[in-house]
Amino acid sequence: MKDRIAFVTGASQGIGRACAQDLARAGAHVFVAARQEDKLATLVEEIRTSGGQCDAVALDVTSRDSINEAFGKAKEAGTVSILVNNAGVTQDGLAVRMSAEQWNKVLDTNLTGGFVCIQKVLQGMMKQRWGRIINVTSVVGLSGNAGQANYVASKAGLMGLTKSLALEVASRNITVNAVAPGFIETPMTDVLPDKVKEQTLDRIPLHRLGTPDEIAKAVSFLAGDDAAYITGQVLSVNGGMYM
Ligand code: NAI
Repeated sequence: MKDRIAFVTGASQGIGRACAQDLARAGAHVFVAARQEDKLATLVEEIRTSGGQCDAVALDVTSRDSINEAFGKAKEAGTVSILVNNAGVTQDGLAVRMSAEQWNKVLDTNLTGGFVCIQKVLQGMMKQRWGRIINVTSVVGLSGNAGQANYVASKAGLMGLTKSLALEVASRNITVNAVAPGFIETPMTDVLPDKVKEQTLDRIPLHRLGTPDEIAKAVSFLAGDDAAYITGQVLSVNGGMYM
């Protein structure tokens, strides 16, 4: 991965942060992107201190202008070879009472945002005949989950996008895969009530939450040369929660 340019969305915390750190350790020049650039400053510092290459760019994946600007900055350094579409949100609620805002926010961020970011990197990857796109989806995109119709639709949509795009760009030596995390210890899950956490633990054969690093390792594997013959796949990292 030496000197390849990687771009990680939603890198300010949780899984995205861990992905950025691991890709940098593997030698990539990592652009870390999130809405608040200031939150990325410590991550940039950390990576640089340990000898890695890292830059921060402000990015709101629900704004095409913001996406254009962020990828424009990264492209000044060269072709983006690795894209990790990680930015994601939840706005849970039962479908019967779900507002248009709740639906749109989640679909706009998790699915449309990812697609527009992909559009920004495709031409460069096609030209250099090498590229890796990794979409962070979710176990619930495979299993379904009551109370998360919007989130599940967005994550299942990402998997469909992954497979279609894999077919479109395989001839250009670009692989497109998804990683489907189970229940991972991050700010997204910290806010869940203890009762929900306990119930979820009972459904995980390995009986613990996963760590952001365990997701990052799967992402780095798919981004590297060892995964050259893997495309259109969904790699589950979920402690056996769904098989
Ligand atoms: P998190 O809430 O800690 O991090 C999400 C990141 O996305 C943050 O950096 C946030 O600022 C960013 N983000 C949100 N909206 C954005 C926008 N409009 N533009 C740019 N960035 C935006 O969540 P976590 O847990 O690290 O999640 C990362 C990904 O993994 C998400 O796509 C999530 O759906 C997925 N995931 C997480 C699981 C978990 O158990 N934590 C399980 C399965 C999937």
